[in-house]
Amino acid sequence: MVAGCSQQEPKITLGVYSGRHYNTDKALYKQFTDQTGIGINLLEAKDKVLLQRLEAEGDNSPADILVLADAARLVKASDMGLYQPSSSSKLNEEVPANLRSPEGKWYALTRRARVPIVNPEIVDPKSITSYADLAKPELKGKLCLRNRKSPYNQSLVADQIILRGEAATAEWIRGMTNNVSQEFFSSDTPQIQAVGTGTCGIALVNTYYVGRMLGGQKGETNQALAEKVTVVFPDPTHVNISGAGVTAASKHPKEALQLIEFLASPEAGEGYAAANYEHPVKGLGDNDVLETFGPFTPDGVAVEQLGAKNKQAQALMEANGWK
Ligand code: FE2
Repeated sequence: MVAGCSQQEPKITLGVYSGRHYNTDKALYKQFTDQTGIGINLLEAKDKVLLQRLEAEGDNSPADILVLADAARLVKASDMGLYQPSSSSKLNEEVPANLRSPEGKWYALTRRARVPIVNPEIVDPKSITSYADLAKPELKGKLCLRNRKSPYNQSLVADQIILRGEAATAEWIRGMTNNVSQEFFSSDTPQIQAVGTGTCGIALVNTYYVGRMLGGQKGETNQALAEKVTVVFPDPTHVNISGAGVTAASKHPKEALQLIEFLASPEAGEGYAAANYEHPVKGLGDNDVLETFGPFTPDGVAVEQLGAKNKQAQALMEANGWK
C-alpha cells in the first residue's frame, strides 16, 4: 500500500490498459476510485504493444477496459475479438451514435479534429475552406504532410473516401503529394514548428498538438511558434476519437462499464479531453485555448466506417505518392 494511504484495499480492482499517456487521466481514475471504492490498476503503453499483450494473455488478461486512440485502432482491436459488446443507456445518451461501435464494443471518450494549419504570411487562411483545397496547384512547395504510416492520416483518407468516393480521393492525394517539396514528417509537432517558422505554409495536424504548444506544455519557444499558426476548420471537419470498451477477458464487466460511463460523463469527459486539448464528445468543452480555435462542424462520418476503410485508404495513399 502507498505510504500515507489510510483507505481500505478496494474489493474490486479494474485493470485499465491505455494507449493514452497523460498525467491528467490518472487524476480522473483516482476520482472514480474515491467515488466508487473500485480500484484501478493502470497499464499505459503504445497501442500496438497493448493489442499484442491482450492477445497473448487471452482469457487470463487482467485488463477490464482497453483505451485506444484512433478509429482504425479501435476497429482493429474489435476485429481481433478483444472487446465484448455492452449495453448502456447512459453511454447511448452521452456518446453520439457515430462515435461508438454499433454493438457497444467501444465508445468515444474524446474527439480530435484533424485539420489544416497555415502560416498566414504564406497562405491566406480564407483560401482554405475544405480538405480538397490542399490539392490546389497554388500550394505547390508550400504543403507539408506527415507520412502515410500515421493512423491519423489513414483515417482522414478513409473519411474522404466515404464522403467523396475513391476516384476523387485518389485525385486529391495526387494533387497534395504534388504540392509537397519537403520530406514527409513522422509526427505532428514538427509540422506545427515548420509552419510556425515558415518552412511550410500549410500542414495537416490534430488540433490538440497545437493546443499543447499554445498552452505552454512544450515550452516557450514552441508556444511562440504555435502563436504564428492559424487553425482552419474545413466545413465539414474530419473528427477522430480516443475511446474505450470492456475487454472480452474482463472478469468485472459491470464495473468496467461503470468506469467507461464515468469517463464519458460530461463532467469527467470534459476533464479527460480538456487536459490534453482534445474536444469532448459533445460541444467545444471548457478550455480557453480551444476556444481561440473557434467552433467547427463535424462531418458526422461513423468512426466504425473509418476503421472499415483503413486498408483501402492505405492502398490509395501508397498508389498516389503519399510517402
Ligand atoms: Fe496523438
